[in-house]
Amino acid sequence: MKITVQQLQKQELKPLYQDASQLGFGRIFTDRMFTMQYRNNAWVEPSIEKYRNISLDPSACVFHYSQEIFEGMKAYASEDGRILLFRPEQNVKRMNRSAERLVMPTIPEEDMLQAIEELVVAEKRWIPRAPGTSIYIRPTMIATEPFLGVHPSSEYLFYIILSPVGAYYKGGFKPVRLYVEDTYVRAAVGGVGDIKTGGNYAASLMAGYRAQQKGFSQVLWLDARERKYVEEVGAMNMFFVFGDKLVTPELTGSILPGITRASVLELAKYLGLETEERTISIDEVIEGISGGKITEAFGSGTAAVISPVGSLFFKDKEYIINNNEVGPVTQKLYDKLVNIQYGKEEDPFGWVR
Ligand code: COI
Repeated sequence: MKITVQQLQKQELKPLYQDASQLGFGRIFTDRMFTMQYRNNAWVEPSIEKYRNISLDPSACVFHYSQEIFEGMKAYASEDGRILLFRPEQNVKRMNRSAERLVMPTIPEEDMLQAIEELVVAEKRWIPRAPGTSIYIRPTMIATEPFLGVHPSSEYLFYIILSPVGAYYKGGFKPVRLYVEDTYVRAAVGGVGDIKTGGNYAASLMAGYRAQQKGFSQVLWLDARERKYVEEVGAMNMFFVFGDKLVTPELTGSILPGITRASVLELAKYLGLETEERTISIDEVIEGISGGKITEAFGSGTAAVISPVGSLFFKDKEYIINNNEVGPVTQKLYDKLVNIQYGKEEDPFGWVR
């Protein structure tokens, strides 16, 4: 694919962030973005151009029926000056799976990877170097055909934006409090909970808002049918440590198959932990915490990395995990994962590119 690259004059460049250690998540964007149009059954006009507003007809499908998908991935600056991507081919594959589910056109894997890599390299001055910082990469596809009928759009815009980021949660690598949601649900089996589409996040907002009002970071979702089994956290997959065994809900169809989730499972095995992907009821979790069988809990995600969970609030009671401290298994997995991502440690899996 031949990508047209717009060069910017010095005076067109945005001022860089002042202090990389103060970067939050997703508010600052780089000078340029990647765009590509889908028209007449073909992807055309791949280009890296100045970051800009998008102008669309108010009737464009995406505004009415949410035909939209996205990905989340990161580029890391290594100490020896390389720019590293973590398993980007997995994001590309998942983006295409999301596209298929919403009857959107797929993009050849090598083209999507090329677009990501060329944009990141073009914008490399933005990659922060402070510990725990990176460039968050957000590939997005939206339906742009102006038409109010409910049908798959015939036109799309694919774009990639970049945001220099620090920690996803305000407190950084500190245990978060989760509210176990037993009224609202995020996704049902047969729906779209296992792909990355904005609608899943829209559906989560009310519960998340209420939980935040009560002082919780996010909600832990239960299954839609019985409100009995643990699913995920929206921005993270969920893990429970039972001594030297790591348990995570199995992918039943309503949970997002996280790339960090899959990596944590492989890392845990590599580090000698037993792993289990299975249904896990909230009752088992509450009993496990109360009886001391669950020694640690954490979430995993691209943005969240590995985030320790300090407590679960369920039916009017808060259950504290590991004294609300970061446990040794969580710490070990976090260190190993982050060291691989930043190129500080040998990558025995071939994940880093
Ligand atoms: C990611 O981790 O990349 C996500 O897409 C989660 C999002 C809520 C920030």
